[in-house]
Amino acid sequence: MSMTGRRTSGPGVKDSGPKAKFSQLLPYMKEQKGLLSVAVFFSIIGAGVNLAQPLVVGNIISTVEEGKDVLPLAIALLVITLLSAVLSGAMYLVLAKAGEGVVLSARSSLSTRLLRLPIQEYDLRRTGDLVSRVGSDTTLLRAALTQGLVDGAGGALIFLGSVIAMAFIDWLLLVLTLAMISIAVAAIGLTSRKIKVATTKAQERVGNMSASVERALSAVRTIRAARAESRESDQIRKDAQEAYEQGVKIAKINAWVTPIGGLAANGAFIVVLGVGGYRVATGETQVASLITFILLMFLMIRPVGQFFSAYASVQSALGALARIQEILDVPLEDTDAERAQVTKRKAVNSTAIEFTKIKFNYPARPEVALDANGKPIEGAEPIMSEPKEVLKGVTFKIERGSRVAIVGPSGAGKSTIFSLMERFYEPTGGEILLDGQSVHSMLRSDLRAQIGYVEQDAPVLAGSIRENLLIGAPDATEKDLKRVLSEVNLTKVLKRDKRGLDAEVGEQGIMLSGGERQRLAIARTLLSAPPILLLDESTSSLDGLNEQRMREAIDAVAKNRTMIVIAHRLSTVVDSDQIIVLDGGKVIGTGTHKQLLRSTPLYKELAATQMLD
Ligand SMILES: Nc1ncnc2c1ncn2[C@@H]1O[C@H](COP(=O)(O)OP(=O)(O)OP(=O)(O)O)[C@@H](O)[C@H]1O
Ligand SMILES: [Mg+2]
Repeated sequence: MSMTGRRTSGPGVKDSGPKAKFSQLLPYMKEQKGLLSVAVFFSIIGAGVNLAQPLVVGNIISTVEEGKDVLPLAIALLVITLLSAVLSGAMYLVLAKAGEGVVLSARSSLSTRLLRLPIQEYDLRRTGDLVSRVGSDTTLLRAALTQGLVDGAGGALIFLGSVIAMAFIDWLLLVLTLAMISIAVAAIGLTSRKIKVATTKAQERVGNMSASVERALSAVRTIRAARAESRESDQIRKDAQEAYEQGVKIAKINAWVTPIGGLAANGAFIVVLGVGGYRVATGETQVASLITFILLMFLMIRPVGQFFSAYASVQSALGALARIQEILDVPLEDTDAERAQVTKRKAVNSTAIEFTKIKFNYPARPEVALDANGKPIEGAEPIMSEPKEVLKGVTFKIERGSRVAIVGPSGAGKSTIFSLMERFYEPTGGEILLDGQSVHSMLRSDLRAQIGYVEQDAPVLAGSIRENLLIGAPDATEKDLKRVLSEVNLTKVLKRDKRGLDAEVGEQGIMLSGGERQRLAIARTLLSAPPILLLDESTSSLDGLNEQRMREAIDAVAKNRTMIVIAHRLSTVVDSDQIIVLDGGKVIGTGTHKQLLRSTPLYKELAATQMLD
């Protein structure tokens, strides 16, 4: 499949910067209310304990000066110091747990959502990028919460407490200290948006990289055979390099911020030491007060530093949240409005499926703008592709219990007809009826329960044969499994491996032959015993024996059901009750094999090339 034009993020994100707001983080924090309240409680106590430390030290010094017993105070200092250590450990644990909780919650809502998007979203997006949103973007939320909220809350308390205590000790020194710190705060304010934008970009690049890896690995045989390894790995490296560059950009911003904070702290220290020392020398201030003040100042500066890094990580989280939220904001396939309009299924009608004047084009997709040399233009708005009509008024009727074949040249729109029956897409005109009832008035899940669908590429999932069979019918018994396997002539596959049903089939069923994959997929649909079966025959050629087996499998399956087969080999469908010939999105003939040989030249031609007339 062509990769151009698949978007890795919403059209808006790339160019107009991230859209997530701080308020969007709040629902995640709300879920962790319990843990976060504990953390805030700990941090308040911690703040009190931390604030007590310098005051006790000051007291010890004046007690020594006065020549009194310092032992009780020394013990108090020891207890306070230990308590502060224990508190910080407990707090770390609670916060880490809350942070992991946030990641878990984001991952579960994303993964629930990812499998329920409208099908066209998957046409437009890249799998690897979606995977990286669940895996990588979610982790960035953790830091925002742990550092951001609680360090912020506890830090603010310590900051306020110290400032008040410092004001009592020496307000002039306090003013000097605050002046130094406000310089650093101003510097931070200027960088926040840049961090957010750079993070979104970095995460987009990581998404691109995952998508490139996924693309290469999913077609690794093709790539090896074409000796394209180095080009593909270059592409992955290029994406990695771009992620690196954005990462370095964030580091550069932080590299400015951190020393400015440090400079402000050192500057404040030197000024306080100088001015305070002078005042001690002139007798305006006691040594004990100056030491207490300096200890308080250090206490106060730490939360300022924490605030800086918390701010940066909240900005990063917002950058990642934009990518998470983008998926969460895509409406689900079944919208609530649709659910509300559902009518009850009518009694079974003699017509299983009816298409009336169905028109359809695949949705337009954003294409990457290309320059004169065919290279993508960096940062350009994607242009929408021209949608072309795939089905141009398709009308047919399929009787219940009949066997129908759809034939026609490649690209005629045969598979598209099945996609519309399954409501993967909505037609742009016309109506589809199931049992005489419009499929629009049904829930997609109810519709799909009526239909078994074997796709053209006969997807087989990684895992065992058993797992593959149970996808559609999780409650099927061992006997059922064996029965459907024998119906499609797959018993031999079971004997091949001593693990039988539990034999692994490999990624995408790679350990099975093409024909076996197709028959396993048929067996899977048989298990759920749907009244209507759609079989999109694989284009891969089968040898005579396999073709014979396939016919037998189809015959077995067709009993008591409505069966619609898209056939590439006419031999498998010559005895169908009805054959629909499709060409260029139009039905150009319907009838039996014999009738079509006479009425439809294209069919006659197809039959002639397959030596069937
Ligand atoms: N997901 C999609 N997005 C956009 N265009 C698509 C999509 N799937 C198919 N098309 C286009 O729709 C047209 C009809 O495709 P369809 O898969 O229905 O053909 P087909 O008759 O099944 O062909 P084949 O015999 O080769 O399987 C093709 O031109 C194809 O490029
Ligand atoms: Mg097809």
